[in-house]
Amino acid sequence: MLAEAAALLACPNCSGPLEHEDSVLLCARGHSFDIARQGYVSLATGTASKITGDTAEMVAARATFLDAGHFDPIADAVAQAVAEHAQGPARILEVGAGTGHYLCRAVTNVPDSVGIGMDVSKIAARRIARIHPAIAAVVADAWQRLPILDDCLTHALSIFAPRNADEVRRVLAADGVYVVATPTSRHLRELVDPLGMVRVDDDKTRRLGDAMAGRFERVQRVPVDYAMTLDAAAMEAVVAMGPSAHHITPQRRAELIAGLPEELSTTASVVISTYRPRSASE
Ligand SMILES: C[S@@+](CC[C@H](N)C(=O)[O-])C[C@H]1O[C@@H](n2cnc3c(N)ncnc32)[C@H](O)[C@@H]1O
Ligand SMILES: [Zn+2]
Repeated sequence: MLAEAAALLACPNCSGPLEHEDSVLLCARGHSFDIARQGYVSLATGTASKITGDTAEMVAARATFLDAGHFDPIADAVAQAVAEHAQGPARILEVGAGTGHYLCRAVTNVPDSVGIGMDVSKIAARRIARIHPAIAAVVADAWQRLPILDDCLTHALSIFAPRNADEVRRVLAADGVYVVATPTSRHLRELVDPLGMVRVDDDKTRRLGDAMAGRFERVQRVPVDYAMTLDAAAMEAVVAMGPSAHHITPQRRAELIAGLPEELSTTASVVISTYRPRSASE
């Protein structure tokens, strides 16, 4: 694990800084955390270990879909938002990082940057550990205290992932930014009904605004809308990587996809919002 990334991590038991020694992270009070053979470290506390996050099948489907480039315009917009708000090398956290795809693009877009890819899924963490040498992979729960030191990050990312505004505020520097990607109600709309996918509700973006309002103010909003041509394998992957995977068996999914055209023009529709922390006096 890269020392510069390890230097941003905090002990989940006492919140103190962690030292990197061989294959262990160690705090001054003697709490120690092994770096797994696959390169990630688990800093999850007892309660988090009950949440498993995405399954191996979901993570593999996401990797297939993202590697095919269907969401590249979204990744480009995220990387662009990160670079526009960077002053020198960035220290970037992605919470719910999945395969690390977006974090990798963000880290490579700003020279000499480091990243922490955090996910509650160990399967995801294994992939994150392999994606880029400047990215550290950490297993932790977004809804607990994040195992990150106060005020140390220039950027936080939340891409289709849980948002804990209080904790992100704590770990971001005063001049840092929080880049958030949320789907609109048009996202994948051609697939929602035929494949019984979970619908994005129209209120979601408004509720995100409400949840962030006390701690952050939005400084940029970039809508990303385009048409993708998806074949059966891509349709399969996009359903299997999301929450809809829990609602439909792989066999039923294959039957429904067989009833659709071989190639389907499908809408991608996402908003990339960039937030700055509000100062306590605002
Ligand atoms: C829809 S995926 C998005 C992954 C990635 N950001 C992307 O867009 O490719 C959501 C991710 O959040 C993770 N996740 C779910 N609940 C979480 C939690 N409580 N804490 C941390 N990660 C969580 C899942 O394991 C999954 O990898
Ligand atoms: Zn400790």
